Amino acid sequence: MSLAERRNAPQIAPDAAVTAAGVTVAYGTRVIQRGLDFTVHKGDIFIIMGGSGCGKSSLLRVLMGLVPPAQGTVYYGNRDFWGGDSAERDAVMRRTGVMFQSGALWSSRTLAENVALPLEYYTDLSPASIRDIARFKLAQVGLAGFEDFYPSEISGGMKKRAGLARALALDPEIVYFDEPSAGLDPVSAARLDELLLQLRDTLGMTVIVVTHELASIFAIANNSVFLDAKTKTMTARGDPHDLLRHGPEEVVEFLTRGKGRGSAS
Ligand SMILES: Nc1ncnc2c1ncn2[C@@H]1O[C@H](COP(=O)(O)OP(=O)(O)O)[C@@H](O)[C@H]1O
Ligand SMILES: [Mg+2]
Repeated sequence: MSLAERRNAPQIAPDAAVTAAGVTVAYGTRVIQRGLDFTVHKGDIFIIMGGSGCGKSSLLRVLMGLVPPAQGTVYYGNRDFWGGDSAERDAVMRRTGVMFQSGALWSSRTLAENVALPLEYYTDLSPASIRDIARFKLAQVGLAGFEDFYPSEISGGMKKRAGLARALALDPEIVYFDEPSAGLDPVSAARLDELLLQLRDTLGMTVIVVTHELASIFAIANNSVFLDAKTKTMTARGDPHDLLRHGPEEVVEFLTRGKGRGSAS
């Protein structure tokens, strides 16, 4: 790092998992969000909040390293993600897992075969070891005994959990979720929340979630960022429980479904 770079480098917290420093998310010349500065600490369950279309999924793709920020820097630990070469980026991405909205399972593969995919792709493990790991990961999400089922044979909640098992296949340090409880009934959604808390507590994982499910936010989050669609920047960050009491008006509106600060306590 040159002296000039060192002078411009932000303070990275010692326990930082992912840090956004002056990040702009854009498509071509169209800016979606700018001026994003926040730290996801190791072991956080961090929520990206905001109204629909404000850029939550776009930010997630930038944090995950699928798309570079139009401006600013994303740090993994204290390393500039895009400052490294592609081999370094691959190594970082191998330590992250992701679950997209539907769970995105391959319909022609059994649950065990779905979980096995990243292991087949990224490791030299024997088929027998891969099969063992897949069984273990499915058990971790409460799907022991369902190894040979096809996605069409199980419920929506189970599909999400199978998607989670696949995200966990390579023992990631960081897991990303885009609206994990979308389309789930409240009981299945609560079960998924409990699972995330349990995985964070037992495996020490860092979890980054896009959601606007208020019940989920208050059940699992200890940190967050709020993306404002109007001003195209973050207007709050921190523990949503604190934001409910001390946050700016639009965040309180969001967290109380428009009922305002007086409605919740
Ligand atoms: N691939 C893309 N190319 C151009 N614009 C996009 C693309 N993906 C999303 N957008 C636009 O970026 C904005 C934010 O989208 P998105 O990140 O999906 O919001 P959210 O997840 O908060 O609902 C929207 O206006 C959307 O139309
Ligand atoms: Mg989205």
